[in-house]
Amino acid sequence: MSILVNQQQFHLTNGKISYVFHVLKNAQLGHLYFGKALRPDRDYTHFEKYHNPTPASCHTYEDDPAFSLETIRQEYPVYGKGDFREPAILMSQEQKSVANFVYKSHDILEGKPPISGLPATYAASSEAETVLIVLEDVYSGVELHLSYTIFANEAVIARNSRVVNKSTTALSVERMMSLSIDLPDAEMDLLHLSGTWSRERHVKTRPLEQGIQSISSIRGASSHHHNPFLALKAKDATEHTGEVFGFQFVYSGNFLAQTEVDHYGVARVQLGIHPIGFEWNLAPGEAFQSPEAVMVYSGEGLNGMSQTFHQLYRNQLIREQWKTAERPVLINNWEATYFDFNEEKLIHFAKEAKELGVELFVLDDGWFGKRNDDRTSLGDWFVDREKLPAGIASLASKVKQAGLKFGLWFEPEMISVDSDLYREHPEWAVGVPEENYTLGRNQRVLDYTNPIVVDTIFERMRAIIQETDLDYIKWDMNRNITEAYSAGLDHQGEFFHRYILGVYDLYERLTSEFPNVLFESCAGGGGRFDPALLYYAPQAWASDDTDAVERLKIQYGTSMAYPIYSIGSHVSAVPNHQTLRSTPLSLRADVAYFGTFGYELDPSSLSNEEKEIVKEQIRRYKSFRPLVRDGSFIRLQSPFEGNETAWMIVSSDQKEAIVGWYKASSTPNPRTNQVLKLKGLHHDLAYQVESRTYYGDELMQNGLPLPIEFNGANEAFAERGGDFQSKVFYLKALY
Ligand code: DGJ
Repeated sequence: MSILVNQQQFHLTNGKISYVFHVLKNAQLGHLYFGKALRPDRDYTHFEKYHNPTPASCHTYEDDPAFSLETIRQEYPVYGKGDFREPAILMSQEQKSVANFVYKSHDILEGKPPISGLPATYAASSEAETVLIVLEDVYSGVELHLSYTIFANEAVIARNSRVVNKSTTALSVERMMSLSIDLPDAEMDLLHLSGTWSRERHVKTRPLEQGIQSISSIRGASSHHHNPFLALKAKDATEHTGEVFGFQFVYSGNFLAQTEVDHYGVARVQLGIHPIGFEWNLAPGEAFQSPEAVMVYSGEGLNGMSQTFHQLYRNQLIREQWKTAERPVLINNWEATYFDFNEEKLIHFAKEAKELGVELFVLDDGWFGKRNDDRTSLGDWFVDREKLPAGIASLASKVKQAGLKFGLWFEPEMISVDSDLYREHPEWAVGVPEENYTLGRNQRVLDYTNPIVVDTIFERMRAIIQETDLDYIKWDMNRNITEAYSAGLDHQGEFFHRYILGVYDLYERLTSEFPNVLFESCAGGGGRFDPALLYYAPQAWASDDTDAVERLKIQYGTSMAYPIYSIGSHVSAVPNHQTLRSTPLSLRADVAYFGTFGYELDPSSLSNEEKEIVKEQIRRYKSFRPLVRDGSFIRLQSPFEGNETAWMIVSSDQKEAIVGWYKASSTPNPRTNQVLKLKGLHHDLAYQVESRTYYGDELMQNGLPLPIEFNGANEAFAERGGDFQSKVFYLKALY
């Protein structure tokens, strides 16, 4: 890995990818290349292409009409100098918005400097190299610091930007992207992960067209509706072949992820904080730091892109403590009891779960204040003595005595109007004073821009963690932000970002003081499933929708960018509480195995026969849990394209694999000899699959035989018919 500087050309390369940019004739930064590695020792200035001037274009030099910023590919475009596409930065100072950032200096660093106050990928000095470019606005002296990191082992560039007000007057930043790149052509499809509550991160694909296409959130959270991720896929790229560029914003708040295709077919991609509602004020000497954005290049289709994201997040984002730790099989009482529980019921629940092989008991919503429904008590993080008269420590110790770890649900960012905290501090709720406020799930949002609020919640959570010797926290966030206003702020355009900084501050304080507490993030299901929270919480509740058929789509979509070991996936009761669909216990587990496995049901509701099945499921999951953590995940068949879904995980030495196959509804008289062509195995290794042995080449070229299905006449296979068929195969190399 190296960053080569040659005549003001910067070439970041690690043998897998190259990222090249240079200082243009006008001293701004021009983009030259991002893709598969190029030879290191070359000047690539000839990649810069000028167009013939047109009567509609504006040029920088009188004697060079071809030099127009409208047609030059740039690194961090500005407003008002002849480029009429959207700029990466927009700032105003004394009514002036025009900027002209020119190269001033650069510095090359080993490793990757942390971004203060913000979660970001990290790297030791041998694992990455960073170039920091300093640009200066010729009009004002304001500086722009652009940071580019290349990792030794991943096909990834990480970027962030920082503006420093070196001028003598106040400055307001109205738009500041973390990443901007001009790709040379737009013959690509745009892929993103969108949906809503209960059907998060569905895969959507559409062609790039001239003009702007974007996904975004102005909800105060990265959202159920759009994930801060997009991929551009060459027209001929597939799941396993061809060029794909993946982009992701390491941030949990308002975001914009946008493509703009210009009239010459150049595709500009930008990711950053959404400019709506954003305005950051900088007095002379002050600075604003953007969050990080990462970009991935894959020459091996969408799978290649996903595996790179998985590796990046596993190795350079999820904190050291949780990289290799095995995540416990958990049981959560939410769908089993909702708010209706007492100590006796919970202890019985935990003991039964222990018998099944469960390792962690999680008490969800309703253990604090007087919370018997969702209208009350958020903020009062003190145990409800009516439900749990002996206290929370007593429950925790009884659960631990039963041989389980103990976890609790919190919703630290929220406040109920009916709570002691609200009665004491109504001014701590976000909202415009003396105006009606909008409720979401009957609750209001705490003002996390106010450090006293963050301190108070920290103290309350800390007391509970210490009292219970807590092992796990599910951190929920069930509503989005309206009436964004804090009386404590001079500039309300800073509200949303300062709110998220408050959230990160609390996460940082809790995870630093309690590094052994496992955090799972959650936001009314998967409403804040983003890389920034993975930094603190190595697993995230993927969706409130626990229906196994719906989960195929949610987990398939989530796997585009997130490691399988971060996806919270549980077996729940039937009929399913979200869809009312009844699926077999086998399907529910076969889907949930591909994530952090757990149960979301009352073990006493299981028959003896079901209990035996559950014991076997848990035993099975534990046997391949290291594979789920460390292996390469490969998507084989998409639930968005048909009735069947398939995926697999292969160990890094290719000696072990698990394969999941699912068929949502039965088909009459199905194909005979159905097979599934596997990927990623070793051609010459012989794999044991149930009672048979196959070589890798057979399994990949001819396929793994799937169960023979009932066809209306072959009665011997009657139990293999019907809807909701599934099978998880375990492959072990023998020689
Ligand atoms: C929403 C979460 O997604 C659920 O799992 C559960 O924790 C509820 N909130 C509790 O209110």
